[in-house]
Amino acid sequence: MKLLDGKLIADQIKAEIATEVKVQFLDKGLEPPHIAAILVGDDPASMTYVAAKEKACREVGFISSVYRYPSNITQEKLLEAVEFLNADEEIDGFIVQLPLPAQIDEYKIIERIDPHKDIDGFHPVNIGKMVLNLPCFLPATPFGIITLLDRYQVETAGKNIVVLGRSHIVGTPVSIMLSRKSTPGNATVTLCHSQTMDIASIASRADILIVAMGKMGFVTADMVKKDAVVIDVGVHRIPSTETKSGFRLKGDVDFDRVSRKCSYITPVPGGVGPMTIVSLLQNTLKAAKKEII
Ligand code: GUN
Repeated sequence: MKLLDGKLIADQIKAEIATEVKVQFLDKGLEPPHIAAILVGDDPASMTYVAAKEKACREVGFISSVYRYPSNITQEKLLEAVEFLNADEEIDGFIVQLPLPAQIDEYKIIERIDPHKDIDGFHPVNIGKMVLNLPCFLPATPFGIITLLDRYQVETAGKNIVVLGRSHIVGTPVSIMLSRKSTPGNATVTLCHSQTMDIASIASRADILIVAMGKMGFVTADMVKKDAVVIDVGVHRIPSTETKSGFRLKGDVDFDRVSRKCSYITPVPGGVGPMTIVSLLQNTLKAAKKEII
């Protein structure tokens, strides 16, 4: 078994981005790319994610701003916040951290984001372009997964890929991206979800298994073909006395047993997570260079 080391690849890409910031922006007297995040409420996972993005921005020389709002913000006020960032010429791209509180209609907020600043790739215009294989902002987690497969030269063409989970953020877009006529891509993709019959037997036929269902340790060794490639998107915090923070992270895959059977596997942490963050930086760079029009 070999690790698909997301941290290592993300660090390489960050170094590439930092060079590009220097050569393409600073040396030419231009402002570096500027990313903003809207953070509503105090969900711990969202706060961790936004803090990780800010740290990554500092590492590559981007400017980053966070706009914080209380969890009782109204839909109108949040739409105004989006409009404000749409209009701010200094900001190249921004995200609205999800999930949003119950009184907010998530889709109304996402639809209001200027597609040219939608570095999360969640706007229907970007999703439509992604389906049609046109230049667009790709959603960060699927983009990170594809980049990881690409950098490790994992062949996807003609392979059986099984995706577990059909979320709008991960499962649905990654299944589309890997079935498109592109590299990586050209795979035969099966998308499994809560209504799928006999997930275990479908998963066990996968050459590449992508797990994004949000169920800790769901994938056991008997569900994985020998020498398969396993991508674990799950992130679960469990209490731990061995770490400073008081918790540690686990994925959707039983890593200890599955790793003995597969050819490649992503660890949690240090697999898909760092690739998600670096993909957002790549999208911001594209926004700043006005590559997506
Ligand atoms: N919540 C969990 N993942 C994401 C993401 O990629 N983008 C945003 N905006 N919110 C998230």
